[in-house]
Amino acid sequence: MESLNVLLIGGGGREHALAWSLSKSPLLGNLYIAPGNPGTASLGENVSLDINDFEEVAEFCDANDIQLVVVGPEQPLVDGITDYLEDEGIKVFGPSKNAAQLEGSKSFAKAIMEEYDIPTASYTTFNRHEWSLAEEYINQNDIYPLVIKADGLAAGKGVFVCDNRDEAMEALTMMNDDVNLSSASYRIVIEEFLTGEEVSVFAICDGETARIIMHAQDHKRIGEGDKGLNTGGMGAYAPAPLLGQDDLNHIDETIIKPMMAAMIEEGLPYKGILYCGLMMTDQGPKVVEFNCRFGDPECQVMVPAIKSDLLELLMTCVNGKLSYVNLDIDTGFYTGVVMASKGYPLVYEKGKKIDGIDKLSHDILVFHSGTYRSDTGDLLTNGGRVLCIVGRGDTLGESISKTYAAVEKISFENAYYRRDIGAKGLRRIEQA
Ligand code: AMP
Ligand code: GLY
Repeated sequence: MESLNVLLIGGGGREHALAWSLSKSPLLGNLYIAPGNPGTASLGENVSLDINDFEEVAEFCDANDIQLVVVGPEQPLVDGITDYLEDEGIKVFGPSKNAAQLEGSKSFAKAIMEEYDIPTASYTTFNRHEWSLAEEYINQNDIYPLVIKADGLAAGKGVFVCDNRDEAMEALTMMNDDVNLSSASYRIVIEEFLTGEEVSVFAICDGETARIIMHAQDHKRIGEGDKGLNTGGMGAYAPAPLLGQDDLNHIDETIIKPMMAAMIEEGLPYKGILYCGLMMTDQGPKVVEFNCRFGDPECQVMVPAIKSDLLELLMTCVNGKLSYVNLDIDTGFYTGVVMASKGYPLVYEKGKKIDGIDKLSHDILVFHSGTYRSDTGDLLTNGGRVLCIVGRGDTLGESISKTYAAVEKISFENAYYRRDIGAKGLRRIEQA
């Protein structure tokens, strides 16, 4: 095969991990990352494109003979980057605008699941002009907790788990009044609270065939023991001992394959990564959410486990030939610990010098998120989540201790990280 030029869209830790893996492919020609970060700068060329301006992206692809565009974040997918570029004859790894509604509209995802008997929480929806009906619903409801969700993308801030009526009313008021939230709350979903342990299963899909790559557990809360505010994710590990092969087969048969068939039936064949956020309830796995992309930081612990050539895999997927692929996944464990700026997910300072990355052994991976390279070459903090440190082990315990040993060698002023990433998985192994 002739070498392929790739444009990777995004600039977080997820995209650094993807760039790292793509750059190892013998099939790769030039790799461009828009906008990228200091981590991706050593793997390809960072380019400053407006990723929301699809015409500009298409012109770049044309000028640079791009054969594949890989889209990291959800917003451009939900806005239709795939459709736009495909119309221009450019191949894209990522779902179409309408298929990405699985993440872009929670009521859309719920309606599909209801129609095709895919297990999820029971729910009801209200449109903005029916706000008084939503209030009435809450006034009459006496089963708590209750979950209220903004329909649209809300950067992780659109879900409220309410323990009582007052909290539910407060959530409704916020969804109405908060400037950032109200546009995503043109419709809301009110759903049953599911009890169990959460796990995310990632499948690569070519429109017809879906193949589970791996499953992982994220740590969404800022504090140890899953306390405190929600974040983008403070760490992850994969695979999670919570799921055995039988569970994965069951999830494939009851959730992933039926979803693929449902999307074909709806005329929206799903291509790209299907991220299934699941709750393992007493009645079996139920869908909490679908996302239309890799997770961050889940990507950072999954991509290193993919031994197959990632570029070849993505191309095979885009060409609709996944059923022929022999997926080669490492049997080891990967743990990723996010080092954040103190104050995140609220206010935090930037511009702190990062030291110690050069002291790490070669088997440790360091993926950049919020970093910045100064004119003098120093690496500085530039965001809430700064780095994700990833270590591998033959056991989960080994991967956790290797990762934390590395984290302790890296320093910046006011660095914060959770010390219990993977602990839930370890407890499960010990109890077995
Ligand atoms: P979502 O954006 O829909 O994944 O929701 C964010 C987080 O809220 C999930 O990861 C869960 O921890 C929690 N959550 C959402 N929906 C439910 C539910 N129906 N029952 C219990 N927890 C939920
Ligand atoms: N880590 C959660 C997400 O990527 O949505």
